[in-house]
Amino acid sequence: MTPTSSHDDVGDRRADRTEFGTVNWIRGYLRRRVGLTLARLRHPRVEFGRGCDVRPGARFMVARGSTVRFGKGCVLDYGLVVESRGLLEVGDRSVFGHHCTVASDESISIGQNCLIAEMVSIRDHDHAFSSTDASIIDQGRETAPIRIGDNVWIGSKATITKGVFIGSNSVVGAHAVVTGDLPEDCVAVGIPARVIRYRGSDVPLTEE
Ligand SMILES: CC(C)(COP(=O)(O)OP(=O)(O)OC[C@H]1O[C@@H](n2cnc3c(N)ncnc32)[C@H](O)[C@@H]1OP(=O)(O)O)[C@@H](O)C(=O)NCCC(=O)NCCS
Repeated sequence: MTPTSSHDDVGDRRADRTEFGTVNWIRGYLRRRVGLTLARLRHPRVEFGRGCDVRPGARFMVARGSTVRFGKGCVLDYGLVVESRGLLEVGDRSVFGHHCTVASDESISIGQNCLIAEMVSIRDHDHAFSSTDASIIDQGRETAPIRIGDNVWIGSKATITKGVFIGSNSVVGAHAVVTGDLPEDCVAVGIPARVIRYRGSDVPLTEE
């Protein structure tokens, strides 16, 4: 199968001009420029890098004193929900599909060139629930930072839980729940997510 170019990526925009026609390319360019300008006006607490594509319906709830920073050329698709009381940093050219949730109470960093598919949830906190005498809603939250390297692809509807590290160049399968660290260059699937193989190797890992 021939790989197709993603029209979301800044690097591919020149190719899009040929593929989709000049009129559509100009329309897309203007839509991106207007979207970015509006997003910067509406969300002064969020730093959007040059060329970010902030689509209508992306929502940002950012507490005073919190830092939210997107690098150059990121794509923030419609329905994305960003909540931050802490730190959220995203590297250049990372793409969030529609209806993702990224919520930082403490710290989330996502590298560059990451592909986060639709409906992925990344939250660096859980509700505390140790007491059986109090309602969970009254017990506050427990937080731990999330770090995601560069060039990571996270499949649709995956959930990344608090305190997790995902190494660069890794792939997380659709619907996975990542509860522990994943190394670089791996392919991990399932609930909880387990490494099934390493990229560049066709040999599946077998159970001992
Ligand atoms: C993980 C993925 C990339 C496939 O990786 P792969 O290395 O080619 O894996 P294979 O298809 O060879 O499958 C290997 C094993 O993992 C299992 N597997 C693959 N994807 C899985 C998933 N998402 N969840 C659970 N198990 C999965 C397969 O059933 C197979 O199991 P088996 O060895 O018992 O038969 C793919 O399945 C996936 O989840 N893609 C994400 C799709 C998506 O969300 N796209 C959004 C567009 S941005």
